[in-house]
Amino acid sequence: MKWLIVEDYEKLSREAARLVAVQVAAKPASVLGLATGSTPLGMYKELTRLNREEGLDFSQITTFNLDEYVGLAADHSQSYRTYMRDHFFQHVNLSAEKTHIPSGDASDLDEECSRYEEAIAAAGGIDIQILGIGGNGHIGFNEPGSPVDSRTRVVQLAARTIEDNARFFASVEEVPTKAVSMGIQTILNARRIVLLASGASKAEAIQLMLEGEKTPEVPASLLQQHPDVTVIMDRQAASRL
Ligand code: GLP
Repeated sequence: MKWLIVEDYEKLSREAARLVAVQVAAKPASVLGLATGSTPLGMYKELTRLNREEGLDFSQITTFNLDEYVGLAADHSQSYRTYMRDHFFQHVNLSAEKTHIPSGDASDLDEECSRYEEAIAAAGGIDIQILGIGGNGHIGFNEPGSPVDSRTRVVQLAARTIEDNARFFASVEEVPTKAVSMGIQTILNARRIVLLASGASKAEAIQLMLEGEKTPEVPASLLQQHPDVTVIMDRQAASRL
């Protein structure tokens, strides 16, 4: 894995956007794997600027998001579909039919998971996958214990994840307890992976991921077996290395 330690969140966001922009420029019909959470917000802002001011063209791009909460309608204020619309999709020239997010309110969730895997394969696989990291080392919503060969499936959220994400909901009781998430194997199939980490709350997970053993107990550590991973982190996230 390659690591890049940058001064602050702004630099992290700019560097992440630069890597995506290089991919898009090299292959205008790239397939991007996208993440939610607070960490990639600055990257989406910078990609929007590059689209509007420097002509970075997303018109042929296809996107697949990592995950979605189970039980929230697509237009719920905290659904990842709403997040992606508000922070990225509506600001750039992506075509709506090429943006994919699992439906967390599908009547048959298992069928939805298979359909999602098939759609990724039909698009030719993911060229570059953006990831954040949970405080417990999760990637997407692959919580500790997620098997390395897992594919898109319904997962139970860990208590820590529910607590961490309660800040976005009126109360902890309103946080969904399940999600549809790409699996570890789905993520490992991406040709390139870029993981972003900012702040001291990620320092322990980053240390375990980069310096610890490869174990499903720290899902991000399973990325050690991928040939092309770049970790971009700020000084605080790197403070335990
Ligand atoms: C969520 C998402 C992850 C994300 C993580 C960290 O649970 N499913 O994809 O990486 O939280 O979020 P944040 O960037 O807000 O710390």
